[in-house]
Amino acid sequence: MTYSQEKSGEQPNTYFVQDRSNEQELERLRIQDKMVTAGMGGVLPEQSDPARFHRVLDVGCGTGGWLIEMAQTYPNLKRLVGVGISKNMLDYARGQAVELQLGERVEFQVMDALRMLEFPNASFDLLNQRFGMSYLRTWEWPKLLSEFRRVLRPGGIARLTEGDIMIESSSSASLKLAQLLQQAFYQSGHFFTPEPDGVSSQLVRLLSQYGFKDVQMQVYELHYRAETPEGRDFIEDAKRGSRTLAPFIRKWVGVVEDYEELYQQMLVEIQQADFVATLKLLSAWGTKM
Ligand SMILES: C[S@@+](CC[C@H](N)C(=O)[O-])C[C@H]1O[C@@H](n2cnc3c(N)ncnc32)[C@H](O)[C@@H]1O
Repeated sequence: MTYSQEKSGEQPNTYFVQDRSNEQELERLRIQDKMVTAGMGGVLPEQSDPARFHRVLDVGCGTGGWLIEMAQTYPNLKRLVGVGISKNMLDYARGQAVELQLGERVEFQVMDALRMLEFPNASFDLLNQRFGMSYLRTWEWPKLLSEFRRVLRPGGIARLTEGDIMIESSSSASLKLAQLLQQAFYQSGHFFTPEPDGVSSQLVRLLSQYGFKDVQMQVYELHYRAETPEGRDFIEDAKRGSRTLAPFIRKWVGVVEDYEELYQQMLVEIQQADFVATLKLLSAWGTKM
């Protein structure tokens, strides 16, 4: 246990940033959420009939941006609930919802999804999880997916979105840092294979194997260029991520002697006028019968 966990009485957790009140990580997730939702083309770009959803649960909801945008995009949604383990992030998310006058429909609850989802059976029509690979180890998926099935109503949809480790960028230092992150994900048991798509490649299989029907998937490629608003968000995300994820990399890969050098090189490279990078995401969804 770290000193801050002992002080706050918090149990250690499996999230890749241990300190649940880390402000840098909150800010990174706020930026990343905006950048990913926009890059994918909205909150539910691949779903043919979103109007059929009335009650939505977002598991590991971060700063709540996806859920809040859902509420704004689909006024027919009656109840939107976000759960996560960071009280700090959920307080921020709640504040945003209230400010936007969505407090009556949108709620946020502190909950450890690895223990259980504290809702009665058949409570939701849509269950969303984006970037669960940040806290789920391979052996934790079966229990979580069985909880997803339990809280979904028959005919409800579970939708999972995961990203690949970046393999295309004009910044060689970014690619080296991304490789270190991939190694840490694999060594820590978060990735099923030591490949850049170590979780995303498994989503269709996981949903099919653990009881979902009509499983489908969609791949998204997000392109970033210097001097565009999206490119600037990408840079901010990369800068913060290289800091907040450094202890996770050190824990699972070991001390990387030239980490600081790589970080400084990345800062220079990603600010170049010709900087480009591509991120690949995959959404998979299936129906609870
Ligand atoms: C990488 S963030 C993704 C946030 C959001 N889904 C998004 O896409 O912007 C993962 C989130 O899961 C939360 N988390 C970590 N461990 C968790 C657990 N055991 N149960 C529920 N949420 C958890 C973290 O606090 C963080 O907010």
